[in-house]
Amino acid sequence: MHSIKTVGVIGAGQMGGGIAQVAGISGFSTIVYDQYDQAITKCQALHDKLLARAVQKERMTQQEADAAKERIGFVSNLDDLASADIVIEAIVENEAVKTELFAKLATMLTDQQILATNTSSISITTIATAAGAAADRVIGMHFFNPVPVMKLVEVINGLATCPEVTKRTIALAEAMGKVAVPANDRAGFVSNRVLMPMINEAFYAWMEGVAEPEHIDQIMMLGMAHPMGPLRLADFIGLDTCVHIMDVMAEGLNNERYRACPLIKQLVSAGRLGNKTRRGVFSYEK
Ligand code: 3HC
Repeated sequence: MHSIKTVGVIGAGQMGGGIAQVAGISGFSTIVYDQYDQAITKCQALHDKLLARAVQKERMTQQEADAAKERIGFVSNLDDLASADIVIEAIVENEAVKTELFAKLATMLTDQQILATNTSSISITTIATAAGAAADRVIGMHFFNPVPVMKLVEVINGLATCPEVTKRTIALAEAMGKVAVPANDRAGFVSNRVLMPMINEAFYAWMEGVAEPEHIDQIMMLGMAHPMGPLRLADFIGLDTCVHIMDVMAEGLNNERYRACPLIKQLVSAGRLGNKTRRGVFSYEK
């Protein structure tokens, strides 16, 4: 395997777009695939806005911003990822959809490419198994939102991941200015195994009338130095995503203590998913 020069990203949403932006800024030739033109247009607009802000804040020159933009290409055909040394999947957090994609990638890409998944909770080994003979090139590369700001990449080996793949994935994360921290392949890894019970407990505290939502958040921000309270963070992640991650952990770790609080599920069933629907625990109408 040669060194990584070209990064492929599957999914131009919030996570994929952020990963692509950081890869482009870090000097990698970057190819972003999305099947929806609308997602690509939205992603490009966000890149433009964030690059303009970086120039305005004198974190980079206009020339550097233009060069970063130039390095990021958008495609709507999966075959166009053939020249990437690594493909980072950042699509919907759904096991069936991800395994179908990895089975497809294993047949169409070259046997030199690393297949990374940005899953937040699904077993890397399960995703890798779908890739058949390519299972040894599958690895978890878990970024955090907003990707340009958050320093962590959780790196998770599947049962079959070969050491060279891990080494090159860590090197890529570091070249993207991130700190790569290893975790084992258990549902939710470390990040969500610790984060989600805190978020869930905040919902229980609200449901049981321990405090109002804004006060729960204030207590955690001012008392624990968290940049956002757990309820606002849940809105930021997406309440449906939180419930999904907790379900994956309850099943995968075979323990009902990870199951989502009835109140968060109620908000989800009312369509209050957080920032993305402008209403979750809090309102974001403005
Ligand atoms: N992309 C790029 N930069 C962004 C950004 C984005 N989407 N959102 C904010 N920023 C930048 C801003 O440009 C600003 O930098 P600048 O002023 O120097 O340009 C800086 O971040 C701070 O932003 P703001 O002043 O607008 O707001 P805050 O100071 O409140 O910070 C925050 C916003 C960075 C989101 C902060 O509240 C925070 O760190 N929150 C916690 C986020 C967190 O915990 N993320 C992890 C979620 S869990 C996850 O992703 C895993 C998954 O598996 C669930």
